[in-house]
Amino acid sequence: MSSAHSNVTIRDARPTDADAAASIAVEAWRPIYIGYRQALGDEIFARLGDMEAQKREQVRRFITSTPADAIVAEVDGRVVGFGTLLMERKDGAVVGELGNNAVDAKYAGRGIGKMMAEASIAKLKARGATLLKVATGCDDAHAPARRLYEKLGFQRSLQQVTYYMTV
Ligand SMILES: CC(C)(COP(=O)(O)OP(=O)(O)OC[C@H]1O[C@@H](n2cnc3c(N)ncnc32)[C@H](O)[C@@H]1OP(=O)(O)O)[C@@H](O)C(=O)NCCC(=O)NCCS
Repeated sequence: MSSAHSNVTIRDARPTDADAAASIAVEAWRPIYIGYRQALGDEIFARLGDMEAQKREQVRRFITSTPADAIVAEVDGRVVGFGTLLMERKDGAVVGELGNNAVDAKYAGRGIGKMMAEASIAKLKARGATLLKVATGCDDAHAPARRLYEKLGFQRSLQQVTYYMTV
């Protein structure tokens, strides 16, 4: 699958995209983790381990092992964004999920995140999804993601809170 808009190409990921996507993820999640640290405090945040390294490894491993379940955005042959997909069969429903996704901040606000999400949704529908979902944060750093998902048509949501204490 591949689609192009001006000089942006959205295509299926390849294992060789894994490191570029992982680096984009680390940069994109940095403001999110700064917010987590402020919210949780240094001690709890430290006990969560090296979240940047965990995100890098999660994205790198996913794209290396299941590239068909990920897409990338390219500008002039350079990977500037990525998105991962998940499918789950549950009591007859086929739930398609948008997983990790991010755009290089230098290319933000150009519609690339939206193009990738639309391509991901098309792919999940083609695979038989009857319900789509995406999980995101309620913090300030996730505001662009929430706006994007709501604009795409994700209108119904459940909110959750995760509590921590040191023991
Ligand atoms: C979410 C993300 C992928 C969007 O990528 P993007 O290419 O900048 O987004 P687009 O240009 O396609 O914008 C799509 C919509 O997102 C919203 N949006 C984008 N940037 C925004 C910002 N800085 N503030 C508020 N809303 C924003 C807008 O609603 C926009 O639609 P509009 O321009 O028609 O109003 C990007 O902001 C990102 O990488 N964020 C950090 C990682 C992250 O949160 N990933 C999702 C995890 S669940």
